[in-house]
Amino acid sequence: MFASRLAASSRSAARLFSTAAAGSTESTGRRAATTVATLGAAAALAYSVSLTSTSAVHADTEAEGLHAPHYPWNHKGPLDSFDHASIRRGYQVYKEVCAACHSLDRIAYRNLVGVSHSVDEAKALAEEMEYVDGPNDQGEMFTRPGKLSDYHPRPYPNEEAARAANAGAYPPDLSLMVKARHGAEDYVFALLMGYCDPPAGVEIREGLNYNPYFPGGAIGMARNIYDEVVEFEDGTPATASQIAKDVVTFLAWAAEPEHDDRKRMGLKAMILLTAMSGFSLWLKRFKWSVLKSRKVVFKPNA
Ligand code: HEC
Repeated sequence: MFASRLAASSRSAARLFSTAAAGSTESTGRRAATTVATLGAAAALAYSVSLTSTSAVHADTEAEGLHAPHYPWNHKGPLDSFDHASIRRGYQVYKEVCAACHSLDRIAYRNLVGVSHSVDEAKALAEEMEYVDGPNDQGEMFTRPGKLSDYHPRPYPNEEAARAANAGAYPPDLSLMVKARHGAEDYVFALLMGYCDPPAGVEIREGLNYNPYFPGGAIGMARNIYDEVVEFEDGTPATASQIAKDVVTFLAWAAEPEHDDRKRMGLKAMILLTAMSGFSLWLKRFKWSVLKSRKVVFKPNA
């Protein structure tokens, strides 16, 4: 908009210039006018680009949240698998802290088997929960302890109940959270650890909390990770950052349970394809050797 208006004004200036120059050396005048107009348009464009880009930077930090720093996750390298001890600790954090508000719809107890828990441990975890099942012979629903095939229960029966308990904010399902946010693991970690006092002049509404990493800065979730908010069974010191790192590793696994297999398959495929490409190169040279080494001689009849 701005650029086109400036360009239009410089065009009319050029028209004025060319009218003034008309008469004596009309063609030179017009050429000069065109040059002035072009320069004017270019300047207007450069100015408007600089204008939009600076305002965009301001809008970004405020509307899209602070960019999360990059953390050295142990599963990020092309050949790295998840740290499964960390997944196990992270599951404990989810269960003891996050599960009070967040559902984990896509993870069944059987998914934990062989990843973070043994079959018996996962069975025991499932049995701690009650599930409604049925109907029985009398047509009535009944409750029973959980089984390996059950999915994690939701903390609230529906979205309205969840909002009512959280001052209107809806705690989203965490199964795919790491994949669903720009910045992935880095973002979730920075969010959990990033609570601080709002800067001077920033007003946060009652019931909301200031977090610079959350788009808009005001988040419905209060800080809930502190030193020793859980006690790890493997003796790992439960500092706040350790707890956040473990729960994010767990959520990264929940969002991509096939991660370790995918990388192992990828490595196997690369090894196989490399060997096969070497062999096919040799085969190609072998098959073509007759043609490549022949000599065509032209002998005209004397
Ligand atoms: C007391 C309830 C409560 C607890 C406990 C809780 N959260 Fe939340 N969480 C919320 C609410 C409410 C929101 C929605 C905030 C909003 O939209 O303003 C939320 C949002 C989130 C989001 C999404 C932020 C976004 O970008 O939209 C993530 C990620 C998250 N929580 C992770 C966690 C993790 C991990 C834990 C456990 C360590 C946890 N939460 C514990 C209530 C809770």
